[in-house]
Amino acid sequence: MCGIIAYTGSREAAPILIAGLRDLEYRGYDSAGVALQGEANAASAVAKRRGRIAELETALRERPPPSAHTGIGHTRWATHGAPSDANAHPHTGCDGAVAVVHNGIVENYAALRAELAGRGHAFASETDTETIAHLIEDELEAGRDLLAALRAACARLAGSQAIVALSPREPGVAVGARVGNAGGVVVGYGEGEMLLASDLAALLPHTRRVAFLADRQVVRVTAAGASYASLDGAPADVPAHTVALDPAGAQRDPYETFMLKEIMEQPRALSDTIRGLTRVEPAGLHLDDLGRARPWLTRIERVLLVGMGTSLHAAMVGRWYFEQIAGLPADIDNASEFRYREAVLGPETLVVSVSQSGETVDVLEAMNVARARGAPQITICNTPGSQTTRVAEGAVLTRAGLERGVASSKTFTASIAALFALALETGRARGRVDDGTLARHVRDLAAMPDVTGRQLEAFGEAEAAAERFRETRHMLFLGRGPALPIALEGALKMKELSYVHAEGYAAGEMKHGPIALIDRDFPTVALAGEHALRAKIVSNIEQIRARGGEVLAIVTEGDEELTALADAALTVPRAPALLEPLTAIVPLQALAYATARLRGCDIDQPRNLAKTVTVE
Ligand code: AGP
Repeated sequence: MCGIIAYTGSREAAPILIAGLRDLEYRGYDSAGVALQGEANAASAVAKRRGRIAELETALRERPPPSAHTGIGHTRWATHGAPSDANAHPHTGCDGAVAVVHNGIVENYAALRAELAGRGHAFASETDTETIAHLIEDELEAGRDLLAALRAACARLAGSQAIVALSPREPGVAVGARVGNAGGVVVGYGEGEMLLASDLAALLPHTRRVAFLADRQVVRVTAAGASYASLDGAPADVPAHTVALDPAGAQRDPYETFMLKEIMEQPRALSDTIRGLTRVEPAGLHLDDLGRARPWLTRIERVLLVGMGTSLHAAMVGRWYFEQIAGLPADIDNASEFRYREAVLGPETLVVSVSQSGETVDVLEAMNVARARGAPQITICNTPGSQTTRVAEGAVLTRAGLERGVASSKTFTASIAALFALALETGRARGRVDDGTLARHVRDLAAMPDVTGRQLEAFGEAEAAAERFRETRHMLFLGRGPALPIALEGALKMKELSYVHAEGYAAGEMKHGPIALIDRDFPTVALAGEHALRAKIVSNIEQIRARGGEVLAIVTEGDEELTALADAALTVPRAPALLEPLTAIVPLQALAYATARLRGCDIDQPRNLAKTVTVE
């Protein structure tokens, strides 16, 4: 979950590393640090601080580092050892022969630490990462070069890791390794300079020519280029390609937060995604990255959608699409639960994983299980080249652009659009979707960016509604049918942005327990759009109000009856039934945002969270 950056070239490394860490801060913000390589044979200059990158910058101002053209940096999401200066990365061995930054968990670190301490190594932190530095140090002492030392150290580690290291013994060199699914190592090819990073965001200001390390691969970079090998030392060919992501998309201005920018750019994100997958006139689909998965669309008997968090909620909407459009039995599963069950599936089941990052460890491990069972796989992903796109036989890429807010917004709606297109493609392949139906669905989908755009003009209404929830401690979000995933997602946004305890529930479940919670201090947000089984939700609203509970209803424009019945209402534009989730989520994103703002929360970097979850 941590952010990693490395630079080697002719420019001063420190400012590049700091800028890179800022681009990666959404991956973790418990501490930050850099190691800078000055003269050969001198120990790396290490600066690290608990807290945000601003703290590290203060430290660097107070004690300016030596001029250096090679360095590594890290922003931490703590796993082993509390956030502190000592536990911040980089970690060095006893004599500074190596500096290491790491993402992942060394599962056997206690045994390794005891062994290394027994050999005289002195530890300066409580982290698992420090064992890696001492292991590499031993290998360097034994005469290995830095890359061989890294490979040898990796062979001793249990668990999944992404590691980057440098040593004053090899000036101008940085090495990296990926083992398992702890997160990516992306290699950036600049002009006379090279970079390594845990994800694209930190590389885009410098280059769009990148290569992704696969599982059990290592890389050695100098200013002149990169060489690759597998963990056992065999040379590897890792092709570089140019990514189509726009570096300007990574900028926040003029918005006050990335989250606000990303909510507001949903019409553009939807439009780019839909245009990339469909054609309105004449109606058609071009899901060009389905690859080896395409023939399976006619052979499968069911679909299983997996994901985590927001992406799992998008998958829940996708289940409706596969059932209603493609006529296939469809289930959803939380990826972290799926992988530990004896799930019964094989080649008859298409596994569709949803992951904006393509690097979420739970999703990747679930995909490994599916692969072992022989199930064909398609991933819905916003990050070209990421690990889910490599594991799956086919991909449907969303074009939302980089998402920097820790809480997902535009990738949620873009994933739903991509799932709609995939269900259409599947229905088409199976003879279930005729030309007329295809044309109608594609036209409806293509209209959604405009509908969403109009809706965002009413963002201010959510701000007024949020005033009601400024002091609220608990909330319920209710929905039925395709509005249930939206209720769950609305509650998740409220939890992670404003720290209000918010429960998303199937409205029908209400009377089976949760209604006991309702009183005047426990408000409910009810998803009551015209297609959300409206009549049933009306009954739920009556029941809540009869018990003194306050209700904010999300209603379709012009629904005077519900507007009058609820204590407050936010409207959504009329949309086709299957696409109503795309409109219904927008006021909930806005509501969570506005509530968090009123409560003074850190919206782009909520406490305890990280954008890409690469540890279990
Ligand atoms: C939601 O706001 C969070 N960002 C989180 O739930 C996220 O959706 C989850 O961690 C899955 O991430 P992924 O889409 O990158 O796999």
